[in-house]
Amino acid sequence: MTKRFYLTTAIDYVNGEPHLGHAYEKIIADVIARAWRSMGEEVFFLTGLDEHGQKVQQAATAAGKTPQAYCDGLADVWKSFVKKLDLTNNDFVRTTEKRHQQVVQAILAKLNAEGHFYQKEYEGFYSPKEETFLTEKDRKADGSFDESYGEVIRLKEQNYYFKLRPHQDWLIEYLEQNPSFVQPESRRNEVLGFLKNDTLEDLCITRPVSRLNWGIPFPIDSNYVTYVWFDALVNYISVPASLGDPIVNKELGAIAASSGPSLWPADIHVIGKDIQKFHAVYWPIMLKAMGLPLPRQILVHGWWQKDGAKMSKSVGNIVDPVSVINEWGVDAFRFYVVRELDIGADGNWTDAGFRSRYDSELANGLGNLLNRSVSMLRKYRNGAVPPLSNVLASDAKKAVNDTRKLLQENRLQAALVAIWSLVNRANQYVEQTAPFKLAKDPEKAAQLDEALYNLVEVCRILAVLLWPFLPDTASKIYLQLGLQQTPNRFSEAQWGGLTPGHIIGMPAPLFPKKED
Ligand code: MSP
Repeated sequence: MTKRFYLTTAIDYVNGEPHLGHAYEKIIADVIARAWRSMGEEVFFLTGLDEHGQKVQQAATAAGKTPQAYCDGLADVWKSFVKKLDLTNNDFVRTTEKRHQQVVQAILAKLNAEGHFYQKEYEGFYSPKEETFLTEKDRKADGSFDESYGEVIRLKEQNYYFKLRPHQDWLIEYLEQNPSFVQPESRRNEVLGFLKNDTLEDLCITRPVSRLNWGIPFPIDSNYVTYVWFDALVNYISVPASLGDPIVNKELGAIAASSGPSLWPADIHVIGKDIQKFHAVYWPIMLKAMGLPLPRQILVHGWWQKDGAKMSKSVGNIVDPVSVINEWGVDAFRFYVVRELDIGADGNWTDAGFRSRYDSELANGLGNLLNRSVSMLRKYRNGAVPPLSNVLASDAKKAVNDTRKLLQENRLQAALVAIWSLVNRANQYVEQTAPFKLAKDPEKAAQLDEALYNLVEVCRILAVLLWPFLPDTASKIYLQLGLQQTPNRFSEAQWGGLTPGHIIGMPAPLFPKKED
């Protein structure tokens, strides 16, 4: 069976409602998923929820609920969020599901039997907020810890550890030999710098039940639950395993009854910069220990701020994607986040910036182009497509080729820039040819035909290029052009798709202008 293009996002902690950061990551992943599908790949796109651990347990207690009831309630909110963003995920994993827990336990048992774990007592610093042990190296010169760790306590505890040190040199070599493994380049350099300058501490993979009981029972010792990260990372293979992925099931023993789609290794894990160490250091080592191949790429995005400040509940400056979408539509939201931020860099949301892109690029740029083109063809030719003409064919071809190449490199922001160069070219063409003037002179009928053909055909090609980014808008464009199918095949972005005589649909504003 041919391997599918397998793409994942991080799975979000269920300790609150989704915000802009979560939305951004999911949208990038969805654009990539749709783009590869459009280019002919069979794609499997996974997202989901990370439901165990201290953060979730604490949030549940604060809400006066059991952790499971708390997670069940919020899981519905997050699942409808995925729909709100118009994601095309093929599965949605929750780490409290049996199919996931079973695989985590099978892995722990296998790695333990093969000697990867040991038990020891630790006495030192611990950040309950980040659920992580800290060492002297994490202290600042004045002895304090970064505020992101919250209150740091001293802790004396017996736990199980996963040996990381024996794999350090191998991982450095792997990163050096596979430059595309962590992208963008700046993020890869960070990981390499860390690995070369620090000795890896072995990873504590348990928490005593006496302190934290909301986790997957540690199969080797019932006094412990599994550390939330060892649990969460496994989602990337537990879902393939549950569907019968041949590679995963060969290493871990058959988990699903029959053989299913071939997914592993993942093609891309999309994650944020704060969790890069877990994905680019711990996860590869876990996989190597399991005997599984590594994912092909970890694509690391930056973080969003609002008006130059970190978003936080206490400050009250969280961007709520749902209210933006309710007001402006999902495609306007998808457009802004992808167009504003290159993958890897940090970004800053401002309401004015959002509004400005909505007005200039969506309403006046794309919306106006379609509206003028469709309206004029209806008005001057009763909606019938004129004979083929190739004036804008080479501009369109350039935009198509640039977009394809950029999508293949996951350079989404640059792809939008390439697409808008065609939008702008076509709007300029309207000014140059002035079809409304040509229409007044019967002798210029052929010139009018030419202008109208080029405009509607550019709009059709734009719909195909835009589909991964703005699926609803792309479908609306096709509909206004009188085309019933979905513009989800990149191969349709070939000049000449609109046939002479074809009757287009009626105009309707894509991005209605809003008063202040
Ligand atoms: N549960 C872990 C991930 C486990 S993956 C095996 C986690 N969850 S999270 O809810 O805190 O974050 C989920 C994703 O959202 C992460 O990739 C994180 O970087 C991203 N973001 C959270 N806040 C963000 C911004 N302000 N901006 C951009 N992305 C951000 O970590």
